[in-house]
Amino acid sequence: RKPVTVPGLHAMKAEGRKIVMLTAYDASFAAQVEHAGVDIALVGDSLGMVVQGQRSTLPVTLEQMVYHTTMVARGLSATLLAADMPFMADRDVSYALEAGARLVGEAGAAMVKIEGAAPHILESIHALTERAIPVCAHLGLTPQSVHKFGGYKVQGRADAAERVLSEALAVQQAGASILVLEGVPSPLGERVTRALDIPVIGIGAGPQCDGQVLVVYDMLGITPGKRPKFSKDFLAGRGSVGEAIAAYVADVRSGAFPSAEHGYN
Ligand code: KIV
Ligand code: NA
Repeated sequence: RKPVTVPGLHAMKAEGRKIVMLTAYDASFAAQVEHAGVDIALVGDSLGMVVQGQRSTLPVTLEQMVYHTTMVARGLSATLLAADMPFMADRDVSYALEAGARLVGEAGAAMVKIEGAAPHILESIHALTERAIPVCAHLGLTPQSVHKFGGYKVQGRADAAERVLSEALAVQQAGASILVLEGVPSPLGERVTRALDIPVIGIGAGPQCDGQVLVVYDMLGITPGKRPKFSKDFLAGRGSVGEAIAAYVADVRSGAFPSAEHGYN
């Protein structure tokens, strides 16, 4: 398999080929993700919830992100490795550059993901991109803003749709290579995807995005509690983790996942 690259991801959007992204937190899961042909492995700060058992992603530290990213990097070869900037590692441009240097230079990520489109975030996206660190932007239901939102609530409904669209254009303008769009109505997911030149990877953003991302423990049905509406248990009725991830890859590529039932209106 040819290595996945940023230009390759842009070509996939241009050619209408769906991009598959999935989280991984350790070397064994990374090897499964690699073997299944996932395009992008994300070391998400969701690890704070699904690995550490915390109530939000906020307690996750840069040290922990570096540790998990290092482990995941050892399990990958062709899959592109993206790592989350943890809460407050993007508090200003110089912190964001330091965090980017550690996640990429030390841990082996090829891209960092940053939530939001506040002025200092746009500046950081630009500064990282200028230093050859590709950035994945993240808009919509950005989990690090849980206290501002007052819970994990769908964003971009009604009048707020225009703000999400203008934020998406702003992160693209700042230099972001791709965008993760989370927890927005499916019609807005489609609008943002059409408006941007860069690939838009959805999670609870409808079927029209250029690609999809899920939390691996959610799509294996092992995250405690109620499964989120936008996810699906791909292990149900299958014999192994490998088969489940392969089915996820196949269903995203074919457009079978997500279907309307996984989206918001
Ligand atoms: O932390 C994470 O896993 C994420 C994805 C759900 C996009 O940010
Ligand atoms: Na995250």
